[in-house]
Amino acid sequence: MLFHLIYVSTAVKPMIGDELVSLLEQSRARNKRHRITGMLLYSDGHFMQVLEGEEASVMKIFEDISHDAGCTRPARRPPSCADDRA
Ligand SMILES: Cc1cc2nc3c(=O)[nH]c(=O)nc-3n(C[C@H](O)[C@H](O)[C@H](O)COP(=O)(O)O)c2cc1C
Repeated sequence: MLFHLIYVSTAVKPMIGDELVSLLEQSRARNKRHRITGMLLYSDGHFMQVLEGEEASVMKIFEDISHDAGCTRPARRPPSCADDRA
């Protein structure tokens, strides 16, 4: 059973291409180490991210994002579980 977490957040300042690519690369590498998948969307200064994997791993990453100076405190959607990855 996979744990899913979805949140929305706002960038503290608009992100340009290189910053987004760097955030994505860093996130993908770390998420892979923690067996986390999902997606990260950015539009007009707002983020939406889906994180999925073991609950403890997802919560650890989410905790880090919650304290990240690059975005406002993330607002979570209600948690859910699924049998398969998205
Ligand atoms: C909108 C947003 C989404 C992020 N998503 C992830 C993520 O999926 N995985 C991850 O490891 N870090 C993500 N980060 C970065 C973390 O908040 C944090 O900076 C990073 O994990 C710390 O890594 P370090 O301790 O190696 O410096 C995200 C940051 C922001 C602003």
